[in-house]
Amino acid sequence: MAEYDAIIIGSGPGGYVCAIRCAQLGLKTACVEGRATLGGTCLNVGCIPSKALLHATHQLHEAETNFPKMGLIGDAPRVDWNRMLAYKDEVIAQNTKGIEFLFKKNKVDWLKGWASIPEPGQVAVGKETHKAKHIVIASGSEPAGLPGIEVDGERIVTSTGALHLPKIPKRLAVIGGGVIGLEMGSVYARLGAQVTVIEFLDEITPGMDAEVAKSFRRILGRQGLRFMLGTAVQSVETLKTKLKVHYQTRKDGSEGQIDADVVLVATGRKPFTEGLGLDALGVRLTDRGQIETDARWQTSVPGIHAIGDAIAGPMLAHKAEDEGMAVAELLAGQAGHVNYGVIPSVIYTHPEVAALGETEETLKAAGRGFKTGKFSFMGNGRAKANFAADGFVKLLADADTDRILGAHIIGPMAGDLIHEIAVAMEFGAAAEDLARTCHAHPTYSEAVREAALACGDGAIHA
Ligand code: NAI
Repeated sequence: MAEYDAIIIGSGPGGYVCAIRCAQLGLKTACVEGRATLGGTCLNVGCIPSKALLHATHQLHEAETNFPKMGLIGDAPRVDWNRMLAYKDEVIAQNTKGIEFLFKKNKVDWLKGWASIPEPGQVAVGKETHKAKHIVIASGSEPAGLPGIEVDGERIVTSTGALHLPKIPKRLAVIGGGVIGLEMGSVYARLGAQVTVIEFLDEITPGMDAEVAKSFRRILGRQGLRFMLGTAVQSVETLKTKLKVHYQTRKDGSEGQIDADVVLVATGRKPFTEGLGLDALGVRLTDRGQIETDARWQTSVPGIHAIGDAIAGPMLAHKAEDEGMAVAELLAGQAGHVNYGVIPSVIYTHPEVAALGETEETLKAAGRGFKTGKFSFMGNGRAKANFAADGFVKLLADADTDRILGAHIIGPMAGDLIHEIAVAMEFGAAAEDLARTCHAHPTYSEAVREAALACGDGAIHA
């Protein structure tokens, strides 16, 4: 029986980061992973492969639409779907092998197999049981699915199947206008599919700043995505040559159906804790099936911690990573901390959408006085040169103190631009601090500064 200071269950961004940090802080560490490769959902069937397909299809879109405008004349590229999938798989392999290298470098043992916890202080993997002073569950999440709709992985798929469809569908119906639906919907729309997004609520991307969500939907609409809002999918009928998606509108209860070749079910994810033995251990779950944790990520059973998608909070790789590092620091006797108020979320469509902190809606609901600084990418020279002027930066700052409370960007590189605001918020900065910081010209980031200026005496280029 091997003895470890820490055994981490799961090697996704939460688990592998936690394991590496534990080892760096001097703990004898192992990480259990049952998949053939490390990296969890994110690297194998999530964040990374979807970004490869988004990148490839965005290049195609550029070649088809913007190349001729720049005098780049020639036939638009032809899509070799299998080659594109092979490129995506190569990107996955590079990343998963990278984690294997990092484990070796940091002396983290990879225990291959699926873990269970027979009793506190022990982790069973296959026929072996290992002792651990500390156990960290980072077992992630799985697609929540929809009752009555059976995923077959070929014609009715979740995000996993959508990453390797046998061929590009003519008609793709996406159930759920959230992050996965819109990212994968964009991929297939750019590949020529007729994409219909069916969303239960009256707007896509619930929780997002309403003005940004509306603008986002319009931009995607111009790219050819069709939206059916306030519509609940009831069932999917599988016929030999097509699928029939049956729906009911929420407004008047009227029913209808649309035909599709492939249906993507993207209605959220749920914690994956199967087989760990949590019930027998008495590890308490919330009513949503998440592992209950305290402020130090300790579960109801001493010695067992949990992080990432398996616990409460946004299901984001970087949130899990931060929790992984914080737990490792706590286990090593240091002070681990996560600032949940400053966790960016990004949708990697084109344009990208990034959000941070409060929205107008949450501030109004809290009765907080705030001011808004907005700047359109139409006023940004670099964005205009790059055919990327769709969108805007919106900064929300406290009405009295000018402290930045939230930021919402729809536009080019929004997912990168958001981070200067994240750093500013971590330092408790005022909008004026951003406005007085010199920003290089010509860059997209000037739009962030202009939005900060708009919180004060006004933007220059608006
Ligand atoms: P989501 O929670 O983002 O969106 C699901 C959508 O489905 C919601 O808008 C919901 O109203 C709708 N819906 C639910 N039931 C429905 C029904 N019967 N008919 C029509 N619409 C229905 O979930 P999604 O997109 O599946 O993503 C899962 C998780 O993965 C999310 O937490 C997301 O943050 C994360 N993720 C993050 C990414 C990123 O950060 N770029 C990329 C992909 C996933």
